[in-house]
Amino acid sequence: MQRWSVDLKSTAWMTSKLLQPVADALAAGALVGVPTETVYGLAADATNGIACAGIYAAKGRPSFNPLISHVESLEAARCHGIFDERALRLANAFWPGPLTLVVPRREGSPIADLVTAGLETLALRVPDAPVMRWLAEASGRPLAAPSANLSGKISPTTADDVIGDLAGKLAHVIDAGSCPIGLESTIVSLAGPRPTLLRPGGLPRSAIETVLGEPLVVAETDDAAPMAPGMMTSHYAPGAHVRLDAKDVQPGEALLAFGSVPPVNAGHAVQVFNLSVAGDLAEAAANLFKGLRILDRSGAATIAVQPVPERDLGEAINDRLRRAAAPRS
Ligand code: TXA
Ligand code: MG
Repeated sequence: MQRWSVDLKSTAWMTSKLLQPVADALAAGALVGVPTETVYGLAADATNGIACAGIYAAKGRPSFNPLISHVESLEAARCHGIFDERALRLANAFWPGPLTLVVPRREGSPIADLVTAGLETLALRVPDAPVMRWLAEASGRPLAAPSANLSGKISPTTADDVIGDLAGKLAHVIDAGSCPIGLESTIVSLAGPRPTLLRPGGLPRSAIETVLGEPLVVAETDDAAPMAPGMMTSHYAPGAHVRLDAKDVQPGEALLAFGSVPPVNAGHAVQVFNLSVAGDLAEAAANLFKGLRILDRSGAATIAVQPVPERDLGEAINDRLRRAAAPRS
């Protein structure tokens, strides 16, 4: 596996075509760990069914769980999906960015059936992350990419996280530092009569509802027939148990804190990680998966989690925390 370091503060990596060998490898069917503004992705050519089978194998992912295809522009997205007026409005407002749109699949799109898991719809995203867009454009391929973690485990926000889970299964990994958002994209389906929130994520629901001018329908979690199968209840799971809404710390617990007011017996904590002392939800989102990983390594059997407000990005943070706390199957 080759590791590439990219400094996003300069455009030298673009002008020098530093990553051309990686784009060529993608076009030839390789698996690559790629930074995005949300989380690191495990990318492959979405038109290459064999390469995409490699994604499912590397992650140990159930084969019914479809993948997001990443493209460099709305124009490229429209080659694969059918965008109605609502979809165009959302794409124009939020792309590039942390929003995935599920739209009807366009006939003749070369995206592999394995990516859509046989559905008539397609999940598309134009990421803000320049590396991912550059690779899609330079490889000339839409890039299928789930989060670059083993299925059911904590999503990666650094290249080291990716290597920790998937070393030996990747041809390349690109290191562009920590992901600025730190939570997966928000997924909205426009394939049905009403716009539906399939997964809360890095773009707050209220921003989407403002642009649509109507509330989103919220998809129910149904483990037997998941609408967005990543929405299965147990997910993002650390090794330790997770105790939500903790007002105190029990002996032996680690503490995932939020805000400046410590819980009762905070001194009992084996280790403390504060998502945001200032109570800032964007900062907390960016720190969430890192904090879970660090506290998991503390060896504590249980991670106590202070309450996080449900507004703005808190909806997605609490969604991930509830999944981390859910009984494991
Ligand atoms: O931020 C993100 O979205 C990251 C980065 C790498 O872009 N990707 C990501 O992908 O989180 P993944 O594969 O972990 O999650 C994709 C979600 C799954 O819950 C999947 O079920 C859903 O998208 N999905 C994909 N295609 C779908 C479709 N046609 N209809 C409904 N849900 C779909
Ligand atoms: Mg994932």
